[in-house]
Amino acid sequence: MSIIKLHDKYFKKFITENQIENAISLLVKQVSEDLKDETPIFIGILNGSFMFVADFVRKYNYNCEVSFVKLSSYNGTNSTGKIKQLVGVNEDLEGRTVVILEDIIDTGNTLQEIYEIFKDKKLKQLKIATLFFKPDVFKKELPIDYIGISIPDKFIVGYGLDYDNLGRNLADIYQLTTEPKMKNIVLFGPPGAGKGTQADLLKVKYNLEHISTGEVFRYNIKNETELGKLAKSFMDKGDLVPDNVTIDMLKAEVDKTPDANGFIFDGFPRTESQASALDEFLEEKGETISGMVALEVPEDLLVERLLERGKTSGRADDQDESKIRNRFNEYNTKTAILKDYYQTQNKYFGVNGVGAISEITERLSEVFDKL
Ligand code: IMP
Ligand code: MG
Repeated sequence: MSIIKLHDKYFKKFITENQIENAISLLVKQVSEDLKDETPIFIGILNGSFMFVADFVRKYNYNCEVSFVKLSSYNGTNSTGKIKQLVGVNEDLEGRTVVILEDIIDTGNTLQEIYEIFKDKKLKQLKIATLFFKPDVFKKELPIDYIGISIPDKFIVGYGLDYDNLGRNLADIYQLTTEPKMKNIVLFGPPGAGKGTQADLLKVKYNLEHISTGEVFRYNIKNETELGKLAKSFMDKGDLVPDNVTIDMLKAEVDKTPDANGFIFDGFPRTESQASALDEFLEEKGETISGMVALEVPEDLLVERLLERGKTSGRADDQDESKIRNRFNEYNTKTAILKDYYQTQNKYFGVNGVGAISEITERLSEVFDKL
């Protein structure tokens, strides 16, 4: 998953599930060393901290109690500064060690309120642990005992944190980013589905750059470049060119036109790892794949079309039915996974690829207009 949209705003992947887990392990280690000989009460600050608390206490291997306080200060992406206590502390905390588990400390207004709440509870001690911390915004002279990950002053969502109530369920942390400007479309479909023909028409209509992996490779092969010779050895067998070669070539191709309105990717990505490499690459630019548009055509019709094309194009891989079938097998086993990849992001659009060229262009345009 790359750039996501919540309400009106866009967010890009920022901290992975794995990095979060590592940070929590370190926090647990520090807290355990300090408190393993007593029974601390971990108090999570709701709503944001529910995931953090669950993962933290699961890793904490000594006696402890768990409770929650519900506070609220944020409205949209701005701290309001006014903290409301919605569910208070019920336990008798006298003489106890309390460890506050916060998802994030930003301005410190909430933290100040926490110190207020526990001030007259006659605790043995009050410790503060926060998973995320924004040092550039923190204005208070209040101690924070354990810090997981310090981050820049940019709004984040995921792992319990929300933007107007959305995003709490995301396993990774996403950071606010600018709205993507490009229309980037993965044009998809089995060999012979008419991707190239349609891409040529659509790139003009929508002012997009068309990147056909096959064409770029054939150009390189014809000119006997290093990459071309390498690619040829695979293509002649009807096999796919290895990911790293293809990905580097595609990146270079995209970087040739940095001011493009967007790209039509034709023949790429073909594997899930290519798709996530493409997502990562676009994400660095604050861009994303707008959608995968797939032409759907029955296989027998395709074999017929390809053999016809082979007669005139001279493409070796279009002249032999068993090589064509081999490409379909590759397509079905590897590439169909991509449908799932984009579908889980709500970015998959199937289009009926049987009919006159103009009819199909019309159907594709309906999808392109939406993206
Ligand atoms: P503070 O009172 O300004 O320190 O803000 C603390 C509370 O604001 C946190 O417990 C969160 O609920 C919320 N908050 C602060 N920064 C973010 C953010 O980047 N994303 C989501 N919520 C945030
Ligand atoms: Mg909070």
